[in-house]
Amino acid sequence: MIIIGNWKAYVESEKKAKQLVASAKRAAASYTGVDVVLAPPVPYIGLFTTGNKSRVVFASQDLSETTGHAETGEISAALLADLGVQYSILGHSERRARGESDALVSEKVRRALAQGITPIVCIGERERDPEAGYLYFVREQIRSVMEPLSPKERAQIVLAYEPIWAIGKTALEAVSPTDLTEMVMYIRKALGDFMPRKATNSMRIVYGGSVDATNAKVLATGTGIQGFLIGHASAEVKEFSAIIRAVS
Ligand code: 13P
Repeated sequence: MIIIGNWKAYVESEKKAKQLVASAKRAAASYTGVDVVLAPPVPYIGLFTTGNKSRVVFASQDLSETTGHAETGEISAALLADLGVQYSILGHSERRARGESDALVSEKVRRALAQGITPIVCIGERERDPEAGYLYFVREQIRSVMEPLSPKERAQIVLAYEPIWAIGKTALEAVSPTDLTEMVMYIRKALGDFMPRKATNSMRIVYGGSVDATNAKVLATGTGIQGFLIGHASAEVKEFSAIIRAVS
């Protein structure tokens, strides 16, 4: 299982950041079978990657498609790789809501991979309609992100299924295990248009949307996912450790 904590903009002090990292490191050392990835806001990342020898590794919440140019405010993949970042969350719905397109997400995937950073690509529908149009929406998102990429690039992606309707709510409003199982099967089938069967089976698919310590285990069991992308619960010291314990 891979457990990715996306702190979003919840953490706004170095003190809190340090508490969260220390606690995640303790949990990662205590429980087996869990890879822990933390995505702090960029200004904190260097505090933790320098000399990091723990099993906890770090992700950025985004990266820039540009590199080394006159681009005020942009943070390139090369800079993040130099900081020791190993993963990058790309195409999160909260970034797509600010105008990020699938084409831009693909470009960012390329930039990340060129620097040895593993892309965590987010997809997911805004709502579930009775006519199941959301399935086509998700399929189309997969197509638009995957098409511009080479087979080798595609195979290195971690895919995060994050239905927007389930983000930032309570565990009761998260996807149900049955719906998640169906969606993961559907996603793997859709991936089959872009890669060989073997690659679709080995692609890591994680789920995000109101995961906490109360629903992590049931969502992780028999649904076909390889982990979670966790938002608000990852910014709570005790809750995040409890999730790691629950899925270990
Ligand atoms: P929540 O866990 O707060 O629902 O957020 C999910 C998410 O968007 C993680 O990237």
